Amino acid sequence: MKPTLRSIRPVSYAMTKRRCTAVSLVSGLLIAGLIVAGSAALPRAPRALLIAEASAAEATPAAATATATGDQADTRPDIVKRGEYLARAGDCVACHTAPRGKLFAGGLAMDTPFGTLYSPNITPDAQYGIGTWSEEAFFRMMRTGRTPDGSMLYPAMPIAQYTKVTREDSNAIFAYLKSVTPVREPNHKHTLRFPFNQRKLLYGWRTLYFREGEFQPDPTKSVEWNRGAYLVDGLGHCTMCHTKINMLGGSSQSEQFAGGLIPVQNWYAPSLTSDKDGGLGDWSIKDIVDLLQAGISDRGAVYGPMAEVTYHSLQYMTEEDVKAMAVYLKTLPDKQGRKSGPSAPTNTNVFALGEKIYADKCALCHGANGEGQLQHYPPLARNQSIEMDSAVNPIRIVLNGGFPPGTMRNPEPYGMPPFGQELNDTDAAAVVTYIRTAWGNHGQPVTSREVNELRKAPLH
Ligand code: HEC
Ligand code: HEC
Ligand code: HEC
Repeated sequence: MKPTLRSIRPVSYAMTKRRCTAVSLVSGLLIAGLIVAGSAALPRAPRALLIAEASAAEATPAAATATATGDQADTRPDIVKRGEYLARAGDCVACHTAPRGKLFAGGLAMDTPFGTLYSPNITPDAQYGIGTWSEEAFFRMMRTGRTPDGSMLYPAMPIAQYTKVTREDSNAIFAYLKSVTPVREPNHKHTLRFPFNQRKLLYGWRTLYFREGEFQPDPTKSVEWNRGAYLVDGLGHCTMCHTKINMLGGSSQSEQFAGGLIPVQNWYAPSLTSDKDGGLGDWSIKDIVDLLQAGISDRGAVYGPMAEVTYHSLQYMTEEDVKAMAVYLKTLPDKQGRKSGPSAPTNTNVFALGEKIYADKCALCHGANGEGQLQHYPPLARNQSIEMDSAVNPIRIVLNGGFPPGTMRNPEPYGMPPFGQELNDTDAAAVVTYIRTAWGNHGQPVTSREVNELRKAPLH
C-alpha cells in the first residue's frame, strides 16, 4: 500500500523555522563566548593578566579603517551576482532577516540563556545599515570580527569561520549587500544581562577561540578538496553546530566536526568525522550531495536546524561546490564507519511494545524492515542518525514530526506526522527504542523520562 499522506509544500517554512537557526547558533556560540567572557570577569590575577595581554595584542588600529576611504563597492553585475551566491553560501539571510521582515533588515531575536540578541540591519541604509561602510571596513569586519568603530562582535555572528574568507569574496559579498534595497529600520538593542552585555569581555573568548586569518590551501590536496574545505570551514560555518561545546563553551580543535547537542534548542548535530558515533565514513559522495542539496537522500533526510541550512543556503550551491564540500567532509579524520559490535538486547517487553507500535504507525512509510521508500521516506535501518549515543533527534522527530525543506531538487517534500499527542511517553520511548535497536541498529534503549523532557523543547 502506498502512503497517501503527503505534506503540503511548506510555504511558510522560512517564516516559521527561521528563528530556529538563530537560536541554536546563538545558544551554542554565546555560551562559547559568554561563559568564557563571564569567567574572565572574575577578579583572578592570571585571568586578568591574560585579558590585559590579549587587549594589547588585539589593539589593531580598527578605528583607522573606520572611515570610508573612497573604496566603494564594486557595481559590476557579475561581481554582484557572485556576491549573492557567496552570501547564500554564508547563509547571511538566515540570521539577518526576521520572520516577515525585510531582506537583511535584521531584527531577528536570538534568545540565549543570557538574554536576547538582535541581528543588525545590514542593508545599505546610511543611517541604520552599513551604507557608510567602505569595502575595506567590511573586509576588516569579516577578517577581524570588529566593526568600524573597533567594537568586537559577539560570536553569534560566525566570525571565527568568516575570518577565513578571501578579500575577493568579501568584496563580492559587500558589492551584493550594497545592491539590495536599503531599509530604514533602526537596530534593536541587545538585552543581555550584566556582565554579558560588556563587549570588552569578548577578549576572553577571542583569546581562546578566535584565530584570525584567511583559509590556507593545503598544497598536498586536490583543488576540489581545498574548495570544499574553504566552503565548509569558512562561509558555510558548519562547525558552528557540528561541534561539541565543552564546559567553557568553546571547542578544541580535535572536537571540530565531532558533533554536539545544540543547547536550548535541543537538537543534536551529529558527528561529520566518520567516527564511531555517526559520521560520514560509509556515505557515498552522491548521498552527501543529495542530502545537502536536495534535503533527501538514500541515507536519510534533513530536519530541524539542518533543514534550514539546506533551505536557505545549500540548495542554491552549484553541484560542483556541494560535491567539493562532500569530498572534503569524507576526508575528515577517523574512518571507522558506522557503529559496530553487538546490538542492545531485543528480547525485552519494551522492544516488543515498540515493534507493535512500529507496525501500526510507522511501517506504512518506513517499511516493515525499516528500509524506507527512497528517497521520500528515509530508511531507519542502518541509519546512523537514529543510533547515535544521543537519542534526542529520533525522539524529537517522533514527537513533533517534520518535513524536509522544499528545495529546487525536491520541491514537494513528503512529510512525517507528529506523534506527540497519539503516543504517551511510554509508547514513544518504546517505538524509539525499537527503531534504535531493531534490524541490527546499534543504538541504546531510551526511557520515558527522556521523552517527557523533550516534550518541552521549543519547536522553532
Ligand atoms: C548565525 C547568525 C548569523 C549569520 C549566519 C550571519 N550573521 Fe552577521 N551578525 C549576526 C549577529 C548576531 C550580529 C551582531 C553581533 C554583535 O552585536 O556583536 C551580526 C553582525 C553583523 C555585521 C555588523 C553590523 C553592524 O552594524 O555592526 C555585519 C556587517 C554582518 N553581520 C554581516 C553578515 C554577513 C555578510 C553574513 C553572511 C556572510 C552574516 N552576517 C551572517 C548574526 C549572523
Ligand atoms: C506518512 C509517512 C510517515 C510515517 C507514518 C512516519 N514517518 Fe517517519 N519520516 C517520514 C518522513 C517524510 C521523514 C523525513 C522528515 C524530515 O526530514 O523532516 C521521516 C523521518 C523520520 C526519522 C528521521 C530519519 C532520519 O533520516 O534521520 C525517524 C527517526 C522517523 N521518521 C521515525 C518514525 C517513526 C518511529 C514513526 C512511527 C511512530 C514514523 N516515523 C512514521 C515519514 C513518515
Ligand atoms: C544550525 C546548525 C547547523 C549548521 C549551521 C549545520 N548543520 Fe548539519 N546538521 C545539524 C543538525 C541538528 C543535524 C541533525 C538533523 C539532520 O540529520 O538533518 C545535522 C545533520 C547534518 C548531516 C547529516 C548527518 C547524519 O549523520 O545524518 C550532514 C551531512 C550535515 N549536517 C552537514 C552539514 C554541513 C556540510 C554544514 C555546513 C554547510 C552544516 N551541516 C551546517 C545542524 C547544523
